[in-house]
Amino acid sequence: MSKKLYITTAIPYVNAKPHVGHVMDYLIADIWARHQKQLGHEVRFQVGTDEHGNKIAAKAAEAGQDPQTFTDENCVKFKQFIDSLEVSYTDFIRTTDPKHQAVVQYIWQQLAPYIYKGTYEGWYCEGCESFVTDKEAAATNGVCPDHDKPYQRLSEENYYFKASEFSDKVRAAIEGNKLKIVPEFRKHEFLNMIKDGLLDVSISRPKKSLSWGVPVPGDDTQVMYVWLDALANYITVLGYPENETWREYWPADIQVVGKDIMRFHAGLWPAMLLGLGVSLPKTLLVHGHVTVAGSKMSKTIGNVVDPVEVIDKFGVEALRYYFSRHVSTTDDSDFSWDKFEKAYNNELANDLGNLVSRAANMVMRYQAGVVGELQKPEHDMFAYNEALRELRFSDAIAEAWALVQGANKFIDETKPWVIAKNAENDPEEKEHLDEVLGHVVGSLLQVANMLYPFLPATSEKIYETFNTGVVKPLEDVLFPKIRLEAPEAAAPVLPEPAALARPPVPPAEPEQNEIG
Ligand code: MSP
Repeated sequence: MSKKLYITTAIPYVNAKPHVGHVMDYLIADIWARHQKQLGHEVRFQVGTDEHGNKIAAKAAEAGQDPQTFTDENCVKFKQFIDSLEVSYTDFIRTTDPKHQAVVQYIWQQLAPYIYKGTYEGWYCEGCESFVTDKEAAATNGVCPDHDKPYQRLSEENYYFKASEFSDKVRAAIEGNKLKIVPEFRKHEFLNMIKDGLLDVSISRPKKSLSWGVPVPGDDTQVMYVWLDALANYITVLGYPENETWREYWPADIQVVGKDIMRFHAGLWPAMLLGLGVSLPKTLLVHGHVTVAGSKMSKTIGNVVDPVEVIDKFGVEALRYYFSRHVSTTDDSDFSWDKFEKAYNNELANDLGNLVSRAANMVMRYQAGVVGELQKPEHDMFAYNEALRELRFSDAIAEAWALVQGANKFIDETKPWVIAKNAENDPEEKEHLDEVLGHVVGSLLQVANMLYPFLPATSEKIYETFNTGVVKPLEDVLFPKIRLEAPEAAAPVLPEPAALARPPVPPAEPEQNEIG
């Protein structure tokens, strides 16, 4: 039966333009969403932008703009970036949207029984927009390891949310996998983090220290802490509380976040939901971080990689390939232009692109373009399906690749061009050739099916080429080789224009294994 499913992504701060690390949330969510749609389910998929807080206000001031103008402009950059990834999101939310802000104020009022006034004496990291305990500050010598900046010392009156009240419930939900944290090691990491219970969280700041945020209802001297406002987006975007359809999608099936913000999603957010009497999400999928050539991305080091540049040079399908295959779904992984280029040329161009054109050309040459009876590949789909079910997407696409490589090996071993030569005078050999090519095309259609969540456009092209039973050659070769170090950096090395539409003549060298 078709189900209504909901997947969410972390909403990025719009203080700077997107970097390659931001690809992960959207790509992971899109792989899952497309896979669920293949299974016949309906998927709601939220994305958006986190637009309040001091970090953004400071950047706006630096740019000489008021924060609303600044966020209006930067939100567009993120939206264009998200669109360029070809992800199938259904909802885009901005935290400056007046409707969202009104609901956040309603949420504050609902949480009132758990809110009290207090004095915060301690540390704050503006980069993380996070309050930092003395213990955490001491462990890193007072400097935020993620932002390489000393923590600010705060002494101010603000409102607290009694998250501690929900410690036992949150712990039990996580331990019992009612709120399942994936991967398992992150679950243990978080449970260890809260072994002494959840701490109460400061959820507002005096207006003089924070002016860019949602006003606290009934106290115009205070503005809400950006995380309270940001986390609420996952339900405000569904129309909570007024539009009853929010209940059709909540609790979310999966919430995708990076490891640095797991604690907000596994601690503060469930506590907020419990305070509101709203169910907890089912799964929190925590991905690792992308490093660049072995180092953390940093503006100071100057190694921040712009995903739009990657797309301009290699195309979006190549970006989706690299970040789903070579960036582990759950562990930290590295990006370098060199690794990217190698993966593109060796795997996309050689393994897959070449397989598609070899298969198309052979069917055209030896069978006048008509695909014989399709043979189902013997590839075991269990590992692929298990990997998707367990949200190990990099493992799932590796399974699709094993089939691509298997099909190439099969062609190399069976040598259809030799069979074709013998088939000229031998009907049995003709039958054998039909079988061999039916096997290759059958494998490719299976590959198209397996690749759909990862490389939707490529999957579509493979279908179009073979699906009707009469080969419809692609106008452009899939993944033409690209050499970045060449003088005309990134200019594709185009194949002969008519490479795929050659007349059906036997190859000159019988042992040649590249056709077309
Ligand atoms: N605004 C908050 C999220 C609020 S969600 C209610 C935030 N924004 S962020 O821009 O810093 O991060 C957005 C997402 O990108 C997070 O999931 C974060 O983990 C992810 N990444 C940021 N840098 C990353 C890498 N280098 N690699 C992979 N993901 C990274 O946190």
